[in-house]
Amino acid sequence: PRDVGIKAIEIYFPAQYVEQTELEHFDGVSAGKYTIGLGQCRMGFCNDREDINSLCLTVAHRLMDRYNIKPEDIGRLEVGTETIIDKSKSVKSVLMQLFEPYDCTDVEGADTTNACYGGTAALLNAVSWIESSAWDGRLALVVAGDNAVYSPGSARPTGGAGAVAMLIGPDAPLIIDRGVRASCMKHVYDFYKPNLKSEYPTVDGKLSVQCYLNALDTCYQTYCKKVKNKYNCDVTLNSFDAFLFHSPYCKLVQKSFARLAFIDFLNTSKKEVSEKYPELAQFHDIKVEDTYFNKDIEKVFVNLSKPDFLQKTQPSLMIANQVGNMYTPSVYTGLASLLINKPIKELAGTKVGVFSYGSGFCSTMYSLTITKECNEKSDLMKIVSSLSYIKKELDARQKISPEDYTKVLEWREQNCHTVPFSPQSSIKNMFPGSYYLVQVDEKYRRTYNRV
Ligand code: ACO
Repeated sequence: PRDVGIKAIEIYFPAQYVEQTELEHFDGVSAGKYTIGLGQCRMGFCNDREDINSLCLTVAHRLMDRYNIKPEDIGRLEVGTETIIDKSKSVKSVLMQLFEPYDCTDVEGADTTNACYGGTAALLNAVSWIESSAWDGRLALVVAGDNAVYSPGSARPTGGAGAVAMLIGPDAPLIIDRGVRASCMKHVYDFYKPNLKSEYPTVDGKLSVQCYLNALDTCYQTYCKKVKNKYNCDVTLNSFDAFLFHSPYCKLVQKSFARLAFIDFLNTSKKEVSEKYPELAQFHDIKVEDTYFNKDIEKVFVNLSKPDFLQKTQPSLMIANQVGNMYTPSVYTGLASLLINKPIKELAGTKVGVFSYGSGFCSTMYSLTITKECNEKSDLMKIVSSLSYIKKELDARQKISPEDYTKVLEWREQNCHTVPFSPQSSIKNMFPGSYYLVQVDEKYRRTYNRV
């Protein structure tokens, strides 16, 4: 099959948020720490009506409705998540409620977990299936979702919640480039969830940032090498029209973009550096792994790369800035934001870099080629126009005070794995088509309804 890639995309986030300026005040940190220091404006969160199953049911159902996809069109369904509410039963099996009533049970795939990377792992599995001898001509549906919550403290403002669904198949308008994917996988305890009784991770914030940047450097260098071997051409940031990053918080993404500019600089010959950038020559012999927290280098390259950042990456940060880190969907909310915020004529025919990172750690860099076809009837136009609900829904959300947000999280803590459980939150403000938890019975079985 030709041009395997993303044929449809749907994003879902909860209908309530907390304002980061109010959270700064509530937490007693200096004004600007979360909004300027981390680059976050609002943070979406789930009350007790939503869990990982409901988030994924909502986004999958909404995609199928919006694109008129029938259950029999799907031959593989993959879920990526790190929000574990059951050690055995997959979210994928819960999503089969959307297929079983139509006698469609011949659907491959199960759940994949590694922090924020699970969505990308699921996507790559789906692509591999379509490119394999097992493919039967049907489409694949990839769903990724998480409820990202942290215990009180410096990590809490970097939470978020939501889900993405993507339809994968041949002749796609967003084509995944073949033969040039680059991964970096290592064993590190930077962020993990060993306490199965809690929704909160154990985090070493500084180490997690260092790992993220190390993964980014390594994936980029490997990607450049693979392209060089395959096509004999040199990759730099100029090779990309847009670059998407997993976004734990938007400020880290700006620093990451600057980091790619720094690597380009390191890959430039000494001669060229002394001719073009004599004032930067001091940074040229430095060892890349000694630079993760070098403020001089960071400052110089953030400034140098700023015009490119504003052009190539800033448009992809809209949902990340408004909802926060959704974990597995994060980098795909970047794709949706890019598609919404750039004119379609500027998108058509372009190259998009993608960097996905999940602590622990697993990471991959790959690239997408956007089709040149962008007329009114094109598949690209269909995707872009189908996403027009996002801005409206972001604005239609209900603002919750930091006090009430904290109460919601404390209530979730108290009731985590408590049965029987009946949620208390109203369903009145949920977005149309959202699934909500009705109850968890004494045998831990969950039931859902749809608004
Ligand atoms: N105005 C403007 N900027 C401010 C202000 C202010 N009033 N106060 C602080 N800042 C800046 C700081 O200078 C710092 O900027 P810098 O990073 O450019 O130096 C930034 O705000 C953050 O302040 P820190 O003191 O560094 O923040 P802290 O250490 O308290 O927490 C952290 C940050 C570690 C990222 C924390 O939020 C965390 O642990 N998050 C979860 C882990 C995470 O997201 N890791 C990223 C990769 S892994 C993943 O995706 C989960």
